[in-house]
Amino acid sequence: MTDTNEIKKGLAGVTVDYTAVSKVNPETNSLLYRGYPVQELAATQSFEEVAYLLWNGELPTPEQLAAQTADGKPHRPLAPEVKAAIDALPLDSHPMDEVRTAVSVIGAIDLAGDGSVLDAVGTVEENRARSLHLFAALPAIVAYGQRRRHGLDAVEPREDLGYAANFLWMTFGEEPDEIVVDAFNRSMILYAEHSFNASTFTARVITSTLSDLYSAVVGAIGALKGPLHGGANEAVLHIFEEIGDAENVEDWLDRALAEKRKIMGFGHRVYKRGDSRVPTMKAALDELVQYYDRPDVAALYDALENDFVSRKGIYPNLDYPSGPAYNLIGFDTLTFTPLFVAARVVGWTAHIMEQMASNALIRPLSAYNGPDERHVEGYVANT
Ligand code: SDX
Repeated sequence: MTDTNEIKKGLAGVTVDYTAVSKVNPETNSLLYRGYPVQELAATQSFEEVAYLLWNGELPTPEQLAAQTADGKPHRPLAPEVKAAIDALPLDSHPMDEVRTAVSVIGAIDLAGDGSVLDAVGTVEENRARSLHLFAALPAIVAYGQRRRHGLDAVEPREDLGYAANFLWMTFGEEPDEIVVDAFNRSMILYAEHSFNASTFTARVITSTLSDLYSAVVGAIGALKGPLHGGANEAVLHIFEEIGDAENVEDWLDRALAEKRKIMGFGHRVYKRGDSRVPTMKAALDELVQYYDRPDVAALYDALENDFVSRKGIYPNLDYPSGPAYNLIGFDTLTFTPLFVAARVVGWTAHIMEQMASNALIRPLSAYNGPDERHVEGYVANT
């Protein structure tokens, strides 16, 4: 009989397995990707290099990076079958539904002909290739999603641009300035991985049944969409639009807290004294505020943070600075969480491959609190 004191709702504080991919340390307010502090990686590496690190455990040599880039290139253009699937969706579909559908189509096509479900899990080499395929394909999918809502065609990728610059090129159709590329690159590195968060753990649960990598990523996208998780970066902008400007913050917070609303972009299940990634993303936001000459964004950001932290002692998470940063760059608010998908697909696939390497079916227990056993009226058991 389960001792109901053992129940840990939401698995809060429960350690369920090892991982070598990243270390989230709320005591020191730090985050390590394969041992490297994330702020060092964000200051010195491209997102492509960090993807290699998360998948392989070491930073790439120039030759290894060149090989990864060459292997990814065929997947950068928007595949016709994927474009057709997105075009079949209503224009006002949520972009997270578009991205989830696109990954599902890629998986169905790639796995076609594999026959038995016993082969779904694939080999290590197949899953490395699948991981790189999604990493390379997602920018065009996310970029096209935004462009089609504005009645614009897809923009072909440019071979001469790196990941971040090419993502911005395909979204906006113009070559971005270095400051913007650098800020966007840092945001992708910061979003790439965060141990057993809800969407990553979802991917591991699906993987633990020996299902395929694509199915695990589709499930993770579903989990990330929620406003308590990845959807928070979109929700931060909805809040900024509701408040308007800095002098409205106090009244807005009075009302929001009276209505017991969650203030999106604040709080975290693991970090309780601030999210280790925020200082790095805030520095990128500050550079964008200066570049686009938007002191009003900085004033609203600071006013809401100062007021809410002083009232509740709950600190910003990564979604709080990244929302306004993506808004300044020109991404639609609805595009924000798909950007999170394009980054986190690296962490998800690193964890999927780790789960495959030392797998155990993930199946927790539950404590029953339904009706006592009872019987159907008139039923007589065959004796
Ligand atoms: C991400 O896990 C990860 O690593 C996730 C992530 C990643 O990289 O993968 O870091 C990305 O998902 C960041 C979180 C984005 N979500 C939001 O910004 C949504 C708003 N945040 C809250 O919903 C909340 O902070 C959670 C869900 C993120 C964490 O909540 P916990 O740890 O379960 O804590 P809780 O909800 O039990 O809150 C404790 C108290 C509660 O008050 P009481 O009911 O005890 O009176 O603090 C309050 C909460 O109401 N609280 C908030 C709040 N966060 C906590 N109140 C208002 N606004 C908030 N944001």
